[in-house]
Amino acid sequence: MKQFIQNLPKVELHLHIEGTLEPELMFELAARNNIDIPFSSCAEVKDAYNFHNLQSFLDIYYQGANVLITEQDFFDLTWAYLLRCKNDNVVHTEVFFDPQTHTERGISFDTVVNGIHNALSQAVDELGITSQLIMCFLRHLDEKSAFIALNQSLEHKDKIVAVGLDSLENGNPASKFERVFKYALDEGFLTVAHAGEEGPASSIRDALDLLKLTRIDHGVRCSDDETFVKELAKHRTPLTVCPLSNIKLKVFEHMAEHNIVELLRKGVCVTINSDDPAYFGGYMTDNFMAVGEAHSMSKTEIAQFTFNAIEASFISDQEKNRLM
Ligand code: ADE
Ligand code: ZN
Repeated sequence: MKQFIQNLPKVELHLHIEGTLEPELMFELAARNNIDIPFSSCAEVKDAYNFHNLQSFLDIYYQGANVLITEQDFFDLTWAYLLRCKNDNVVHTEVFFDPQTHTERGISFDTVVNGIHNALSQAVDELGITSQLIMCFLRHLDEKSAFIALNQSLEHKDKIVAVGLDSLENGNPASKFERVFKYALDEGFLTVAHAGEEGPASSIRDALDLLKLTRIDHGVRCSDDETFVKELAKHRTPLTVCPLSNIKLKVFEHMAEHNIVELLRKGVCVTINSDDPAYFGGYMTDNFMAVGEAHSMSKTEIAQFTFNAIEASFISDQEKNRLM
């Protein structure tokens, strides 16, 4: 199975570029930019990656992003991720970035988006990896801050396909961003949002209805509502599921209890993704392997995760046919 999964072409649809910051690069960028970090070794950093829920992870994750200052830093971060993609046979990736994490620290929107975009462009020719870029709003911040980010993105529309919503779900309902998403849709962006990671099935329903989503990030708590699962299957509404993330953040205690295979067998368009691989212990192949080891699956079922991801991706039908 290891060889089959390693060789399987993969498509990633849920990946936060800030979540690919490996401790080694964190130290390199901290030294390059003269920034103090509260760790003395990579082992110490990894020891700190013991999370009990989403917020305990987010605290460390936003702190890590402080070492990212220049366009070159964002390029280097993205390029390091793309090399991991090459290694895992990821042929197409749709990457999230959180502009507010950086603009709130005085880094310009242009610096962030250009560094990431240049690396993604270079990967088409040099690594044979295609991509799309998705800008996420931080849901713990207010509507006004999201509108500022959206306005900053308008001159980069050629580089950004969709807007998303991440950070703390509980206490920050989709309704808080309804007007921002309406504006984004009017400007021609597609929309996605994290929902049903820690929040209940009703949080997914609200996000789908209010924000007119094309796909849902996580969505695993849909299982609390069987009727809803049937609707998701019927409409082939994609869920970008992140198995190792869900274990690290205690959404499920053990991988054997994870519902991704059950949802696949019910006909839901579930996909496998790595979320924040530097923090959760694995990239795409590791995520596929973790699911494959905990659940007995046929090769056809494992490959279905890639077919689902192609179906759910934001590429043209012509490009989808090329990947199929
Ligand atoms: N930002 C980065 N990773 C996230 C996750 N798993 N959930 C919500 N926000 C995030
Ligand atoms: Zn995520």
